[in-house]
Amino acid sequence: MSIMTAAIMGLILFIPALVPNSAAALFGRGTPIDFNRSWKNKRLLGDGKTWRGLFGGIGSGIIAGLLMLMIIHIFRIDNGIIYGTMSQSIGVIVCLSTGSMLGDLGGSFIKRRLGVKRGQKAPGLDQYDFVAGAFLLTILFYPSWVLSTYVEGESIVGLIVLLIFVPLIHRLVNMIGYKIGAKKEPW
Ligand code: CTP
Ligand code: MG
Repeated sequence: MSIMTAAIMGLILFIPALVPNSAAALFGRGTPIDFNRSWKNKRLLGDGKTWRGLFGGIGSGIIAGLLMLMIIHIFRIDNGIIYGTMSQSIGVIVCLSTGSMLGDLGGSFIKRRLGVKRGQKAPGLDQYDFVAGAFLLTILFYPSWVLSTYVEGESIVGLIVLLIFVPLIHRLVNMIGYKIGAKKEPW
């Protein structure tokens, strides 16, 4: 795999983990996941984490991944460089999407413990909580896929590109979300 391929693949294959965040902002409203419960006078997760956002986000990430598989199939692009077998592909997509939203919940949980209010910035955490969640869940079920796609040999470039571009994409998407009214803050 060339360095360029590794970089592009690293980004494209991560799409199922990138989509859930924006989708959650579109779907999110209604009952909060923590049912308004607090711990030591601070909300468990806060009003920014809702059941609709969680399932809408995960569902959208999975649909995005399945669309990618369809495109790959229709254009007969070599399956080998994508996620692997069909069942592994679906599994990885589900892990990326679900892990992304769980990481986002983890980020909010930490923010509330630190006394950061819903929607207030937490630099680093806001941009990388979902990346960490996506990788953690996927490495749990598909360690060899994560290693061969983001760690071993040239593929490490994919991880580096991801870590550089994700905050930029995150910022851009959130600014758009803010403009169209899906998000309360532009970050
Ligand atoms: N959202 C949701 N449910 C989720 C995740 C997100 O409803 N599980 C929606 C909420 O409307 C949220 C928006 O998506 O306001 C943007 O998500 P995010 O930036 O993660 O939430 P914040 O409002 O910034 O809250 P926090 O401080 O907890 O990150
Ligand atoms: Mg946030």
